[in-house]
Amino acid sequence: MNSDADAASASPSSDSPGTDVSTDDVSPPSGDLVVVANRLPVHRSCLASPWETSPGGLVSALMPILREHHGVWIGWAGSLEAASEPFSHEGLFNVPVPISPEEVENYYEGFSNSSLWPLYHDACQTPHYHRHWWNPYVQVNRRFAEKTAERAAPHARVLVQDYHLQLVPGMLRELRPDLRIGFFLHIPFPPVELFAQLPWRQQILEGLLGADVVGFQTRAGAQNFIRLVNRYTSHRGVGQAIMVGQRHVQAREFPISIDVERFEALARDPAIRDRAQEIRAELGEHRTILLGVDRLDYTKGIDLRLRAVDELLGSGRHSVNDLVLVQVSVPSRESVDEYVEVRSRVEKLVGQINGEHGEVGQVPVHYLRRNLPIEELVANYMAADVMLVTPFRDGMNLVAKEYIACRLDDTGVLVLSEFTGAARELDRAVLVNPHDIDGMAQAIDRAIAMSKTEQARRVRSMRQKIRRRTVFDWANDFLGAVDSASSFSMAAGGVTRESS
Ligand code: F6P
Repeated sequence: MNSDADAASASPSSDSPGTDVSTDDVSPPSGDLVVVANRLPVHRSCLASPWETSPGGLVSALMPILREHHGVWIGWAGSLEAASEPFSHEGLFNVPVPISPEEVENYYEGFSNSSLWPLYHDACQTPHYHRHWWNPYVQVNRRFAEKTAERAAPHARVLVQDYHLQLVPGMLRELRPDLRIGFFLHIPFPPVELFAQLPWRQQILEGLLGADVVGFQTRAGAQNFIRLVNRYTSHRGVGQAIMVGQRHVQAREFPISIDVERFEALARDPAIRDRAQEIRAELGEHRTILLGVDRLDYTKGIDLRLRAVDELLGSGRHSVNDLVLVQVSVPSRESVDEYVEVRSRVEKLVGQINGEHGEVGQVPVHYLRRNLPIEELVANYMAADVMLVTPFRDGMNLVAKEYIACRLDDTGVLVLSEFTGAARELDRAVLVNPHDIDGMAQAIDRAIAMSKTEQARRVRSMRQKIRRRTVFDWANDFLGAVDSASSFSMAAGGVTRESS
C-alpha cells in the first residue's frame, strides 16, 4: 500500500524462503544513495515465504534510481523475526533496523500514530501525548541514524522519509556532517496553532533542520514549517531558505504523484477492461456506480461520506434501483484504538444503510474490507461513474490521481475533498467540504447529473495535469534539490564547502 491505499500487486522475489541473505546481488558495503524509511520496501507474508517488493508509488519511483546508484534502503522489516541481517533483493541492498515489540507499541503505535498522525491531520481525532512514547521515539530515531551513518558512503545522499523519523536528519548531521540529507514528509504539516501543542515541538523542528532540503506535499506545509522555525527556534527563515549556523536549509513543496503510464497501461489491458464490464453488469448497468477506496483510517472521512450517501437515498431523489456505492476499505493499524473505533462506526453505518434502503437481492453499499490486487482496483476505477475521495485532511491522496489516470475515455466524475493536497492540482474535480454532509450529498447529486461533455472537459484537463508531473518527476526534483544543496562538511583538517 502506498499512502493512499494504492493496491498494486507485489512482484515475486528470487530469494529462497526463510533466508535473510540472498545471493541475488553482491552486497555493497556502503551506499552512494541511501533511503531511510520506517518500513523496508519489501515484505513477506510469513517467515517461510520469499521476499516481495512492496506495492506503492514511492517504492517504484525510487527503485530505478537506487539500483543505478548502488542504493541502500534502511528500514524496519515489520517484526524482529522477519529479518535481522542485511540482504539483497532484486538489486537493492536492504538493511533492517530492529524494533522491539515494546518499541512498536511506543514509537510506532504510540508517538507516531497516536500523537503525530492525528496532530498533523488537523487533530481530527484528539492527539495523545505521553513521555513514555517520546523516549522510545528518540531511541528508535537514533538507531536509524546510527545504521545510516554506518552504511552511507562518504558524501552520499540520504533521503529520509516521513513523520516516524523526523529526528534522524539532526542526529545524522552530527554523526556524519559530510552527507547531503533530504527529508520528505508524506503527510500534511500542521499550522502553527496546532503544532504548538506538541510538548517536543522544538526537538522535532531542530531534528528536521538537520536536513539540507525539507520537502512537503504542499506550499502551505512548507510555509507552516518556516513560521514554526521562526517562532520556536533561534534560526531564521526567509522565503524558502532557513539559515542554520552556516548551513542553508531549503524548505519547499514537492507534490508526490503516481506512475501514470503504469495505470494507463493497466486501463488499456483487455482483461481488465472485461473485468470492468463484468463489475458494471454485476452491479446493474442502469445504476450509477459510486466508488470509495481508502485505508480504513479516521482521517479518510468514510463515515461522513456514508452519511451523505444515506441522505441521498433518504431524499427520494435516488434509490437502491439507480444508485450503488462500492466502498473498499483496506485494514490498517489495527492495534490502535481509534482505528478499531472507526472500523466499527463504518461497519455499523453500512449495516444501517443497507437495512434501510436495500431490497432482497439488491443493496446500496457493497463494503469490501481488504486490499485489492492492482488489476481489480483498476477495473473498479474503470467501472465507477463517480469516485468519492473525501478525507478530512490528506497530505496528497493518490487514489484521486489513479482514478483520473484510468479514465482513458474521458468519462467519470471525481468528488474530492478540498482538504487534500491533490485538490491543488485536481481543481476540476467537484470539490467538497467533507465535514458538510448536506454539501457532500448535493455534490454527489451534481456529479451523478453531470453531462458527458462536462465530464470530458474536466477529466481531460486533470489527466493532462497528472501526465505532466509523475512520481518519477517527483523523485528527480527531490533528488535534484538534495544534489544541488550546498552544505558545509567537516572534513579531516577543517571545514570544506561542498556543492554540486
Ligand atoms: O501516508 C503515510 C503512510 O505512512 C504511508 O507511507 C504508508 O503507506 C501508510 O501511511 C500506512 O502506513 P503503515 O502501515 O506503515 O502505518
